Amino acid sequence: MEEGKKVEPLGFGYPALVRPGRTRVGWVGIGVMGGAMATRLLAAGFTVTAYARTSVKADALVAAGASVADSPASVAAASDVVFTMVSDPGDVRAVVLDRASGALAGLRPGGVLVDCTSSSPSLAREIAAAARSTGCHAVDAPVSGGDAGARDGTLAILAGGDEAVVAWLAPLFAHLGTPTHMGPPGSGQSSKIANQMAVAGAVVGLSESLAFADAAGLDARLFLDAVSKGAAGSRVMDIFGTRAVNRDFASGPGSARYIIKDLGMALEIGDGQEEEDEATALPGAALFRQMFSAMVANGDGDLCVRGLITVIECLSGIHK
Ligand SMILES: NC(=O)c1ccc[n+]([C@@H]2O[C@H](COP(=O)([O-])OP(=O)(O)OC[C@H]3O[C@@H](n4cnc5c(N)ncnc54)[C@H](OP(=O)(O)O)[C@@H]3O)[C@@H](O)[C@H]2O)c1
Repeated sequence: MEEGKKVEPLGFGYPALVRPGRTRVGWVGIGVMGGAMATRLLAAGFTVTAYARTSVKADALVAAGASVADSPASVAAASDVVFTMVSDPGDVRAVVLDRASGALAGLRPGGVLVDCTSSSPSLAREIAAAARSTGCHAVDAPVSGGDAGARDGTLAILAGGDEAVVAWLAPLFAHLGTPTHMGPPGSGQSSKIANQMAVAGAVVGLSESLAFADAAGLDARLFLDAVSKGAAGSRVMDIFGTRAVNRDFASGPGSARYIIKDLGMALEIGDGQEEEDEATALPGAALFRQMFSAMVANGDGDLCVRGLITVIECLSGIHK
């Protein structure tokens, strides 16, 4: 959608247009992803009011021109659109639905909540219903593309909710990446969980293949370069391969802890534990989750998922 184009029906006549200088953006959760994404919106000319639980994390954003508020509700009271980018569903519930301090408590009718956290589809549906009951709108919009995608504005944005509201958000999403409307509330989160299963499988495959190549005495860099041009070549191989070979596990994107959370949600849904869900067999997700749990058990839970090769090596009695 073109910047400034009016989209009907938001129904409340407010806020009418998304436009830098006019639309007031709130941002809750200034971590690796949220900090970079909020910075992009600020640089694009939007007014940004932020809430960071650990206040020092908002310092760079404030230096770039953002204001801070002392709670998600205060952020929302100063905003037309409130983005949340926190850790997990429990945190989303706290920052959005807490009756006193949550964003929904401060948002005026017609306001829009956008949760970018990788969270649960059923919570996204609950938030959408709660927003509707107060005359507001909610979109679940988890992202894929890591810290680099957040900094560069090249994230895949998986949006669930009212299509008109997702279209209305386009001038904001345009600075963050490429949005796709996946369907009704919760569809964005279901898409992200499915995405994480595919990423986890690819990381496991890559890790085993690199450990095997190394044990076979191959030159790992030459191996990666050669196979990346064939059927094994993938985005996961491009992003993680060389850094895994270089044993650079510390920097982003995506920690073992976070993919365990996402695979855990997949398994809960697969087991039919969430409302109205049919059971789905997810044997790969169960195995992958166990493998990433081994990273946590080894004290490496905060490392990037590409550190999984260390688990394969441990199982093989190799300690590098
Ligand atoms: N990192 C990636 O590459 C990546 C890629 C795609 C999606 N994701 C997903 O995006 C989300 C955020 O990832 P991230 O890497 O940005 O994580 P992060 O660096 O850990 O940031 C999360 C931020 O949320 C804040 N927070 C958590 N719970 C809160 C609460 N109850 N109230 C207020 N603030 C709260 C944390 O505050 P404190 O600083 O006070 O702890 C932290 O600043 C996760 O769901 C993750 O799975 C991550």
